Amino acid sequence: VSRPRVLVTEVLGDAALELLAAGGVEVEAYDLLPAADFLPRLAAADAVIVRSAHRVEARHLEAAPRLRVVARAGTGVDNIDVEAATARGVLVLNTSGANAQAAAEHTWGLLLALVRHIRLADRHVRAGGWDRAAFYGEELAGKTLGVVGIGRVGGRVARFGRAFGMRVLAYDPFVPAETVAERGAEKVERLADLLPRADVLTLHTPKTGPRLGYPELARLPRGAYVLNVARGGLLDEAALLRLLEEGHLAGVALDVFAEEPPGDHPLLERDDVLVTCHLGGSTTQAQHQIGVRIARAVLAALRGELPDEAVNVPYPDGDGDRVVAAGDTLGRLAAALGGGRDMAVAGGEGTLAAELLGRAFLAGYLAVAGDDSVNVVNSLLRAEAHGLRLRLQSTVGETPEPEVFTAALGSEVITLAATAGGLRLRAFAGATFDLLLGEHLLWTRHRDVPGIVGRVGTALENGGINIGTLALSRRAPGGEAVMVLTVDQVPGEELVRRLTRLPDVLDAGHVHLPLAAPRTAVAHAR
Ligand code: 3PG
Repeated sequence: VSRPRVLVTEVLGDAALELLAAGGVEVEAYDLLPAADFLPRLAAADAVIVRSAHRVEARHLEAAPRLRVVARAGTGVDNIDVEAATARGVLVLNTSGANAQAAAEHTWGLLLALVRHIRLADRHVRAGGWDRAAFYGEELAGKTLGVVGIGRVGGRVARFGRAFGMRVLAYDPFVPAETVAERGAEKVERLADLLPRADVLTLHTPKTGPRLGYPELARLPRGAYVLNVARGGLLDEAALLRLLEEGHLAGVALDVFAEEPPGDHPLLERDDVLVTCHLGGSTTQAQHQIGVRIARAVLAALRGELPDEAVNVPYPDGDGDRVVAAGDTLGRLAAALGGGRDMAVAGGEGTLAAELLGRAFLAGYLAVAGDDSVNVVNSLLRAEAHGLRLRLQSTVGETPEPEVFTAALGSEVITLAATAGGLRLRAFAGATFDLLLGEHLLWTRHRDVPGIVGRVGTALENGGINIGTLALSRRAPGGEAVMVLTVDQVPGEELVRRLTRLPDVLDAGHVHLPLAAPRTAVAHAR
């Protein structure tokens, strides 16, 4: 088996490259891969790690049949067509928050430099000047800081604001007022109410955040400062220029531009504009952490695990792999029993776990039904295409226990318990058990008569199949009973047919459960 190939398109740092090399993958790393080489190099890769110099679009994904992972060594995924990746079952990863401190500190650096004319004074002194009266600045204490987007970066910027004696207001429809308050700011429900009060306006949203043009920016108080260390395009650059020319804004600091690099831009000719080249996340510490985190996440993803850096799969804290194993196994067992119109799953803690369980169930179900390119990334889309519906319930059957996962097919319930040793089958085909699952499960529905175990055992012996574990269950003596067995070899279809023809056997089946077998500790090491 050839080793997975990981393409690294920009500087990632030695620690990360060493981790990758030690992780059993083939690494092809560039300080900056020329744009023209991106497509051909990607075509041979199983995973790619990008920063922001390259765009990963649908056409790139189409040209890369082996690609399973697109990793963004950073936060913003606006250079990746996440929707197209999801449709193809390609996992997208990022290291959200790893450069938040760097971006917040950079924002503050720009703000201080702006209000104290540091760049201009530096230039002045180098040119032999010493005109102290020409560089009077502004104090931040007592002013109001308006933060748009109070996530990991905005939250830090808000705290810096408080440390400087500023009043901090925040607009962010996704963060509750209580959390905004914990981050040192007061929540303002409407952007329109924040703007007239912000002496300093700073943006910390993704590219999908609100866009501010002339009408919005003109609502800022006269003499306001505006900063963008988030994404180019959020601020209308022509509007900024006009408001500076009109003397409405006192200064603007930009780390990002609609076009990067911005080229010959009239904003760059102004003394009241301070610029840097998208350096928000560029600190030694952030880049080290990003590199190491993304390298570990990529290795985990290539091993088939779900890292918490996942962007296009819901990730419940610390529990992803367990939920995926349970969901996939339930889906396969459900499909093996013939599925059903009214299917539901329950288990795991919280909404993210429920969503992930549902996705894994659908992936397992569709895999048994013959879809050979379904996975937890694209299973929801595939299920929709098949008209397959699944309800996510908080419980199926009895009171939920944290380690119990259930699927309901109409009135029939399949129950698994996730234990340290692996998944245990508790209910299946209308009977109850407590059996440690393995990779191959065989079962029979039969009449509860003497000799069944012997007949099935002999048939398996004749087929060269070794039994690992076996359990029998019945509702009442002499009625219908169910036997489940884990076996060490793949029983062929012919053997399963032979089992169904045995006297007193009503039905038999086999299902492959690749995620049910306990995984090794090594495979779980992160
Ligand atoms: C990010 O989204 O992480 C920042 O914009 C930094 O981008 P970079 O990785 O290109 O420095």
